[in-house]
Amino acid sequence: MPKDRTKISKCLFPAAGYGTRFLPATKAIPKEMLPVLTKPLLQYGVEEAISAGIDTMAIVTGRGKRAIEDHFDISYELEHQIKGTSKEHYLTEIRAVITRCTFSYTRQIEMKGLGHAILCGETLIGDEPFAVILADDLCDNNIDSVLTQMVKLYEKYRCSIIAVEEIPPEDSNKYGIIAGNMEEDGVIRVANMVEKPDPKNAPSNLAIIGRYILTPDIFDILRETKPGKGGEIQITDALLTQAKEGRVIAYKFQGKRFDCGSVDGFVEATNYFYNKSKG
Ligand code: UTP
Repeated sequence: MPKDRTKISKCLFPAAGYGTRFLPATKAIPKEMLPVLTKPLLQYGVEEAISAGIDTMAIVTGRGKRAIEDHFDISYELEHQIKGTSKEHYLTEIRAVITRCTFSYTRQIEMKGLGHAILCGETLIGDEPFAVILADDLCDNNIDSVLTQMVKLYEKYRCSIIAVEEIPPEDSNKYGIIAGNMEEDGVIRVANMVEKPDPKNAPSNLAIIGRYILTPDIFDILRETKPGKGGEIQITDALLTQAKEGRVIAYKFQGKRFDCGSVDGFVEATNYFYNKSKG
């Protein structure tokens, strides 16, 4: 049977950033491997993708990120050591992930920004719509995961979908900020977007967080996108090209989001998941 090219079956994880805000921890350990309780951030992201019906994980890594590949592989020595002991259950979750999914990797040689990292992933994605998860934005929802909600929306609108959240206006210079027209409750057709604007220039208080569904023409657009804010190739700038044609939907998702790229957000996530595990 030919492959359904409209189904979201792949998720891209840009994971090549330096994670400077977590130095010295991230000197030799990728930021995406930092654990909230006992599970690395990236595993939470992969599990969210699985929950959205995705089985192919495409990871953009960089130098010093080899621990990611080892994590999503079988450690025969470890398996052998704990087989039949009371500790075996500690590996149950990661084993289930490895069995269910395929992992592929490519490297971003130079850190030229998130847009550039996504473009590096083209070789793993090909010509089909795909999801993007930034694992340092950790999301949780009790019913449908954030990505599941977005996949459902994609099935209705068939264009790029970006997750947005209301933020305090003074934080607008940390995010891509959108503006547009309401299509239905919590769903906005994007007309404008700006990367990290000063609060006085922000077009709204709706910030883009690390969940996207992108149509594959984004790769051609990214190839043409010049470096923007901070001298980096910004996904926000590429999405603006699609938005001008009415092809971007912003979605105010149901659930919680923790910015685990910052120390405050990381501690908040740790407390939240700890309390949840006890409750
Ligand atoms: P961040 O802006 O959080 O950058 O990237 P960072 O380097 O990871 O962290 P800090 O700011 O130095 O502490 C957002 C996401 O985009 C990826 C990162 O891995 C992260 O998931 N990224 C960013 C890349 O893959 N490549 C890049 O060139 C830039």
